[in-house]
Amino acid sequence: MTTAHNTAKVGDIAKTVLMPGDPLRAKYIAETYLENPVQFNTVRNMFGYTGTYKGKQISVMGSGMGMPSIGIYSYELYKFYEVENIIRIGSAGAYTDKLNIHDIVLADSAWSQSTFAKTQAGVEGDIQYPNELLNNKIEDTAKQINTPIVKGRIHSSDVFYHESSVPNYVDFYNDHKCICVEMESFALFHNAKVLGKNAACVLTISDSLVTHEEISAEARQTSFDKMMKLALEACM
Ligand code: ADE
Repeated sequence: MTTAHNTAKVGDIAKTVLMPGDPLRAKYIAETYLENPVQFNTVRNMFGYTGTYKGKQISVMGSGMGMPSIGIYSYELYKFYEVENIIRIGSAGAYTDKLNIHDIVLADSAWSQSTFAKTQAGVEGDIQYPNELLNNKIEDTAKQINTPIVKGRIHSSDVFYHESSVPNYVDFYNDHKCICVEMESFALFHNAKVLGKNAACVLTISDSLVTHEEISAEARQTSFDKMMKLALEACM
């Protein structure tokens, strides 16, 4: 079985998939951290690979940017490829000066104005949740490997560039308790829920809407490596 967006066959993809937004990040992860990685998808350059980490089969695949994109890829992985767990590994912009560049955030919920859940399954409400057991595993792993994490509500936004006349990050922080912004997890968590599967999201703070700081290219790699180690160890 293949889909319009994925030429893998059932069995080519592991039960647990790590999903960065960028498909070239998926390639880097496969080549850097996995043993014997085998590429299972190239359609639309949304690269996916399966290999092993410490003997356990793990896959990694790009999600693309935004909820329509991760909505397609995660749905297909869960529904047609027997994937049980997806851990999104991404970057986020901080909404509070309590978060610093390089901090690692574990999403305990995702708030969104998105109509994804309503359009997909008639589900009302503006908050979606990750899987508790998967989150506990990630939290326990973070403790074991001495990687500090901040747990909190994230904003899954449909918009990267806002006009100044609309509500801004201060409102999202004050009114909805969102500590940072990314663009995918609300849809991922929803898909997991409707299909009876598991999802979680780990993010590295790459920029701050408060201080306007941005992560540098070299530093991006170091903090990314920390997050990757956390995600991979949590799969064990
Ligand atoms: N991902 C990383 N930084 C972001 C930002 N400022 N807005 C939305 N998504 C992001």
